[in-house]
Amino acid sequence: MKLALQKGSIATAPKGYVRVVLTSKPKGTKRFVEKSGVETLEIGVGEKELTQRQFIILCRAIVNTAKANRCKKIALELPDLTPERAQLAAENFEMANYEFNHFKTKPKEGWNEVEEVLLLGAGGKEVEVTLKKGQEVGRAVNACRTLANTPGGDVTPSTLAKSAKDAVKGLPVKVTTLGEKEMQKLGMGAVLGVAKGSTEKPTFTIMEYKGASGSPIVLVGKGVTFDSGGLNLKPSNGIYEMHMDMSGAAAVIHTVALAARLKLKRHVIALIPAVENMPGNQAYRPGDVLKSMSGKTIEVLNTDAEGRLILADALTYAKRLKPAAAVDVATLTGAAMTALGLHASAVMSRDDALSEALLGAAERSGDYAWRLPLWEEYEESMKSSFADIANVSASAVSARYGGAIEGGIFLHAFAQEVGAPWAHIDMAPRMTAAPGDELAKGAAGAPVRLLLRFIEEYAPKG
Ligand code: BES
Ligand code: MN
Ligand code: ZN
Repeated sequence: MKLALQKGSIATAPKGYVRVVLTSKPKGTKRFVEKSGVETLEIGVGEKELTQRQFIILCRAIVNTAKANRCKKIALELPDLTPERAQLAAENFEMANYEFNHFKTKPKEGWNEVEEVLLLGAGGKEVEVTLKKGQEVGRAVNACRTLANTPGGDVTPSTLAKSAKDAVKGLPVKVTTLGEKEMQKLGMGAVLGVAKGSTEKPTFTIMEYKGASGSPIVLVGKGVTFDSGGLNLKPSNGIYEMHMDMSGAAAVIHTVALAARLKLKRHVIALIPAVENMPGNQAYRPGDVLKSMSGKTIEVLNTDAEGRLILADALTYAKRLKPAAAVDVATLTGAAMTALGLHASAVMSRDDALSEALLGAAERSGDYAWRLPLWEEYEESMKSSFADIANVSASAVSARYGGAIEGGIFLHAFAQEVGAPWAHIDMAPRMTAAPGDELAKGAAGAPVRLLLRFIEEYAPKG
């Protein structure tokens, strides 16, 4: 989408643009042609000043209303266009304009999308800069959505690794992919264990953007390219959308690409363990004991709790990078959705400063998150009878409750050896767009905006 800024008011909008006028009516839209021949689209937004949350939804609704009315070029005046709000506007215009069309035949009249938005107002240099930046952010979010939306038959661990390379073409990012042999050498028994059921070989991709010297922020993304559940096969309604179980990987890939594109003076490394979780006569079984890269053994009580297994090895790998902080991002549990609904990712950490940094970045970016505890009281439930730790709670009582926290507790056992502040983001609640989001059906592109803000803002103490 073309996004331009022009001095003046909506009344001075040039010809050829549909004028979008925001009125003080509580809601509703009206389209009419003025006597002068100017086409106008009225959108009621109420009288009160908009909170940031409302402003974000309004920006998306403007684009969606324009699309519904088949307006290709719109002109509008946004209230209080501060640099901060300009960035949010650009991000959310782009996000609302996105649809996953890849497998659809293009209609004769073309895709229904807004081609140009002309913003009228005072503007200024700073607003111009943040508008551009917002567009880059929005595009990265959309690229993440496309990768996550692509079906499981087309995204395998090897093509996911290739997507990581493609995402940073022409950018100063070093991409290395380890294959099965190298993973065996490293002793990544957890990743290799989950991968056994699939004919698709696992991959482990490392992306490094070094925009500054010093210790890196390490992002780990769950790359389960399809989660059938394995031998603990999911039921039909649970298996739907499980091609998006690599959404964490998609998010960290496109966050690193974005950081490089924006030339951030930061050192960021993404780690992407990728597998397909399938049943079959080679598949890992309930009861199997896996030896992780850390040396810890893991009793597999449920093959559907596979994400935490591949993340465990990735967190152990992170240790050698001597990170300033490590953050993993994963569609880890349905329980996180039960806990939070569909409007916030779950953040878990024992480091209050890191947690606050993530939650603040979430709020400011509009990519929302909320904290869950990781108290030691929860550790008891992950004990195993036959190995160092179990991948799910053995107790029939605790297994019914607090599943998101148990996932976090399991990861903490591996993350505590990294020797850096660590946090876990269970993004399952934000894997797909929720009703009211004003976003197209499918992947929501979380938490790219959150991670970008975090990378920009996080300064570890000391
Ligand atoms: N990928 C799923 C979690 C998930 C479910 C994400 C729905 C997004 C939407 C994960 O691998 C899984 O299967 N989790 C299990 C954990 C259980 C076996 C302890 C779950 O949530 O049921
Ligand atoms: Mn699973
Ligand atoms: Zn999964």
